[in-house]
Amino acid sequence: MESDLIIKQNRIEIHSHLEKTYSSNIALDALRGLTAKQKYIPSKYFYDSRGSKLFDRICCLPEYYPTRTEMSILEYAAGKIMKSFDKGDIVELGSGANHKIRLLLEALHESRLPDYRYVPVDVSESALMSASEELLEIYPDLEIYGIVADFTCHMNAIPADRPRLIIFLGSTIGNFNESDRQEFLRLLARCMKPEDRALIGFDMIKPRETLEAAYNDSQGVTSAFNKNVLNVLNRELNAEFDPARFAHVAYYNEARGRVEMHLQAKQDMEVNVNDLELTVEFNKDETIHTEICSKFSREDILKMSADAGLEIKQWFFDSKGWFSLAELVLID
Ligand code: AVJ
Repeated sequence: MESDLIIKQNRIEIHSHLEKTYSSNIALDALRGLTAKQKYIPSKYFYDSRGSKLFDRICCLPEYYPTRTEMSILEYAAGKIMKSFDKGDIVELGSGANHKIRLLLEALHESRLPDYRYVPVDVSESALMSASEELLEIYPDLEIYGIVADFTCHMNAIPADRPRLIIFLGSTIGNFNESDRQEFLRLLARCMKPEDRALIGFDMIKPRETLEAAYNDSQGVTSAFNKNVLNVLNRELNAEFDPARFAHVAYYNEARGRVEMHLQAKQDMEVNVNDLELTVEFNKDETIHTEICSKFSREDILKMSADAGLEIKQWFFDSKGWFSLAELVLID
């Protein structure tokens, strides 16, 4: 597949699959989303360099249990996962910072490092670069092949010449709606070979208070993260959103098994999106839906894996059953 080589220095190589299509995609996505009856913006547009930094701060918040809980699972499961994956590419979809991959690498004896290559895939070039450089400082012998891409449409940009452990952590899978999630899993299964495996993090259903606190932190970091998508639209599409005129709203929609994040207009207003030659009208209290964070039951996970042609090889939980990591392989 065609890509731009952005950087190649001793052990880091980063390719971009994004440049040519990103700006036209955001235009199309914003046009669709801002003219829909329920306005929405796809959550992947949160992650510019400021958004990625805000997300890193979210991961450390006392109320935001998913990162900590997943890390605690990885800590005990890494050895078991790496034991049966003795060489190849560790592909990380939506890699962001590099804390999770470190736990997997720590489970390896140093002498095994040359048998692996780390292949982070992320839409944020800046996050990919800094995470790769940091990782290389800790693991000078590791080979890194980074891909700047939207993995929902560039699954085939991922090298497939070695056995792969494809990791998709943080319950990012929860950001898809049901049909996109099923399609994602089917595409994933289709690009997997019998020797490949996927390790997917799922945030589990739990009491409403815990869920809602995680997305309404007392320091307002999640609010800033949510509103940042308006800055992205202002910059990328020459739009005129005033983030101060929107309120951060996040709640658990129990019937749909998901936390929803919205930006709610504090007043009636019109907003120009100049590059789209579009004026968007808001009534007071109307919202832009900015994120779906689905929460899963064990049955949900079993069913969607099976529907995609995947089966669970190993399944790891924390002691409260708040989060789980499923290792999936093709059903043979
Ligand atoms: C990265 C998608 C897993 O849904 O919990 C955190 C993003 N949004 N706080 C999540 C997020 C608000 C996060 N994921």
